[in-house]
Amino acid sequence: MNVLETKRMFLRQLTRDDVDNLLGIFSDFIAMQYYPNTKSREETEEWICRNLESYQKYGIGLWAAILKDSNEFAGQCGLVVQHVDGKTEIEIGYLFLRKYWGQGLAKEAALACRNYGFTSLNFTRLISLINPNNIPSRRVAEKIGMTLEKEVKWEKTGNIQCVYAIARM
Ligand SMILES: CC(C)(COP(=O)(O)OP(=O)(O)OC[C@H]1O[C@@H](n2cnc3c(N)ncnc32)[C@H](O)[C@@H]1OP(=O)(O)O)[C@@H](O)C(=O)NCCC(=O)NCCS
Repeated sequence: MNVLETKRMFLRQLTRDDVDNLLGIFSDFIAMQYYPNTKSREETEEWICRNLESYQKYGIGLWAAILKDSNEFAGQCGLVVQHVDGKTEIEIGYLFLRKYWGQGLAKEAALACRNYGFTSLNFTRLISLINPNNIPSRRVAEKIGMTLEKEVKWEKTGNIQCVYAIARM
């Protein structure tokens, strides 16, 4: 099911058939260098399950980014419910296959998610949680108008994460 459309991509819901697509990112040591680990097939299946539950419960989650011109899977981008510093927040998340980096796809998809979150879903604030060393990800956040708000100790990993945020105008 398509959720969003950008100039070059459709964002559609993940399905259980996306395991190999996602493993293209999750088994890549470089793509996963700012995450605690790469992910196994079983962990990838669990990731998909969590997103299917999130679609049901909240109507949002990470979506698959599909290139319009080739119909290929390029990555994931979407809106994720997170709990940060005792508050419920909505995060814009993005992870793309390494072969598609540097073409502006993450920025394009993240911008569409930002606009959808503010105008269609009426969220008043969106964040991104980013490892301080993840410069490409910080740039994407800045390019869609977010600013660095604070650093937090991320309870899931114990690592410091930057909280980038943007409020609805
Ligand atoms: C973060 C990630 C999604 C960026 O994807 P991308 O499609 O390459 O990003 P874009 O091409 O949209 O780039 C957005 C901006 O960041 C800049 N940027 C991208 N890579 C960069 C790098 N290595 N160093 C400095 N700036 C960089 C781009 O120049 C661009 O700015 P511009 O519009 O002024 O040119 C991608 O690197 C990725 O999937 N990483 C692995 C997963 C991950 O870490 N996700 C983020 C978790 S918080």
